[in-house]
Amino acid sequence: MTTLITNIKELLQVRETLVSKVSGAEMAILPTIKNAFLIIKDNLIADFGTMENLPEIKADKTIDATGKIVLPSWCDSHTHIVYAGNREQEFVDRINGFTYEEIANRGGGILNSAKKLNETSEDEIYEQSKKRLEEVMHLGTGAVEIKSGYGLTVEGELKMLRVIKKLAEDYPISIKATFLGAHAFPIHYKENKAGYIDEILTKMLPEIAKNKLADYIDVFCESGYFSVEETKKIMQAGIDFGLKPKIHVNQFNSIGGIQAGVQFKALSVDHLEIMNSEDIEALKNTETMPVALPSCSYFLSIPYTPAREMITAGLPIALATDFNPGSTPSGNMNFVVATACIKMKMSPEEAINAATINGAYAMGISETHGSITKGKKANLIITKPISSYYQIPYAFGSNLIESILVEGKILA
Ligand code: NIG
Ligand code: FE
Repeated sequence: MTTLITNIKELLQVRETLVSKVSGAEMAILPTIKNAFLIIKDNLIADFGTMENLPEIKADKTIDATGKIVLPSWCDSHTHIVYAGNREQEFVDRINGFTYEEIANRGGGILNSAKKLNETSEDEIYEQSKKRLEEVMHLGTGAVEIKSGYGLTVEGELKMLRVIKKLAEDYPISIKATFLGAHAFPIHYKENKAGYIDEILTKMLPEIAKNKLADYIDVFCESGYFSVEETKKIMQAGIDFGLKPKIHVNQFNSIGGIQAGVQFKALSVDHLEIMNSEDIEALKNTETMPVALPSCSYFLSIPYTPAREMITAGLPIALATDFNPGSTPSGNMNFVVATACIKMKMSPEEAINAATINGAYAMGISETHGSITKGKKANLIITKPISSYYQIPYAFGSNLIESILVEGKILA
């Protein structure tokens, strides 16, 4: 099956050779081709170029993209879209003056979601989660990482990871699974933290590894959650079971989580709302991708990741949604890109790089996703007719997507 897209006003994120991530000043450069064509063979990008160089081909399907922009689908490298119920009452409590921390301290927050998850059947969790997955696919997400972490029991964590596995089997987009048993301490382990960590290490991890239920290991490294020492212990155990770390750090406090992540060669360190100069220094010349989650900052009214300082220091940045019931009940990468430009002062080029190629890196799939490169997956966004790609962050509340291609097929 050959699909030809013609007359593309501008084709974004064109990379002739394999680029795994872009850092620092390179982030401001978004390579594009104006008046372009794109050829898709089966599920892959086969060729592209300017319209005057369009080869003679027999296409099974031709899409005329006059006035429209085509770009690789968003790569959302940090989500928690598998969960049960919602936390809308906590949202109203926060409007009425309670903080996210106060709500968590009285048994709400992650523990509230864990209670709901353990009371809900696997089939029901799948049904609720697949609606969110379908929603984000229609918003242009073509690859997504999904975490466990609302089970906090052996059975609950395995249940979540099986749901993620089933979603990965049932849907055509690429899904990476992350084990986040170390998301919070369950109530009955409040006075026995070592006991819960032991449960993660000796009961959860062996079972997860045996059943190949996760690609990565995550820890919420934060005051009141997992200390740096505990985070290191859990990362090491994950590595021993073949899981690379991708961790939550510096959301509310800078306590050394970034340095620990870098030490353990984490694929990414995520959140980074609170960053000091040592944190930025620690990330220089490493393989660890810093991931910002601006819609979480927006929803909780907490600081935004200092993107300008980080990019000036030569670092790369990836953008992701953090879609979850407590701190970010939204999986809209278009909003994330817009918020990064509006609130973090990233340029449209930097934000689009951060949400495509660098997002792909942060989930270990930059060889197959995140750019217009021959041989990569034909996961694409085709916009409505728009004046330029600046519209994507500028018209932040509008839906500019006309159609989505996943593995070369138009998403119905
Ligand atoms: O990434 N920070 C930790 N975990 C999630 C939120 C968890 C929740 O509130 O349910 C996050 O923001
Ligand atoms: Fe998160």
